[in-house]
Amino acid sequence: MSYPKDILSRMYSRDNQPELLYPKREEGSTIEETQYEEVVQTNLFNVMLNRRSQRKFENKTIEDSKIEMILAAADTAPTAGGFQGFEIFHIKSSEIKAKLVEAANKQPYVNAPLVLVFCMNPERVKMNFPPNILKKFSLQDATLAASYSQLAAHALGLSSIWIGMINEDKVMEALGTNHVPATILCLGYPQKMLQPKPKRSLKELIHIV
Ligand SMILES: Cc1cc2nc3c(=O)[nH]c(=O)nc-3n(C[C@H](O)[C@H](O)[C@H](O)COP(=O)(O)O)c2cc1C
Repeated sequence: MSYPKDILSRMYSRDNQPELLYPKREEGSTIEETQYEEVVQTNLFNVMLNRRSQRKFENKTIEDSKIEMILAAADTAPTAGGFQGFEIFHIKSSEIKAKLVEAANKQPYVNAPLVLVFCMNPERVKMNFPPNILKKFSLQDATLAASYSQLAAHALGLSSIWIGMINEDKVMEALGTNHVPATILCLGYPQKMLQPKPKRSLKELIHIV
């Protein structure tokens, strides 16, 4: 069986020099500004390969057109039964952002230029399954939607941090909603581009049974 690793490795090459997908470049090293433009592109594989969590954002407004694309990307994600069992809260209020910092164990970077909260809405999932399954579906719906938005943001030259360490009740209180949050996605222009983190080798990760 052949994995896409080889294809991906070739796509990840810079300066026409083949570069292996694994191990990735050293964690924490930065990409030179001149290379920045090269990695901002819409080739899906390159977007995935170059995405890196970012917690330091420039104090720069994100264009409405980009925000629309990020939100539209969420709406393209697959959902259980096609019922779209999730909701997105676009946080514009600085007071609510401050409350979300508190709800996220005081992680300061939650106060980002663009803050999206992806919530579960199992009531939308009109399938004849037990509530725990519908809840699981809506969690997966919300997670996938957030993931699509995250990748879209990176394709648009933005960076992001996925916030899972949240107090659900506090987030719900801050938003004034009964929808349970799955994740907070914080986005903005990066202060500096970071190299992707090294990951496990595919051999380690994939179990052929
Ligand atoms: C489910 C989940 C929860 C996470 N929660 C947090 C969080 O609360 N705070 C944070 O700073 N990063 C959080 N992260 C980001 C991870 O730390 C990050 O994705 C991981 O270190 C890998 O780095 P990378 O995204 O650059 O590949 C979370 C990521 C995931 C997928």
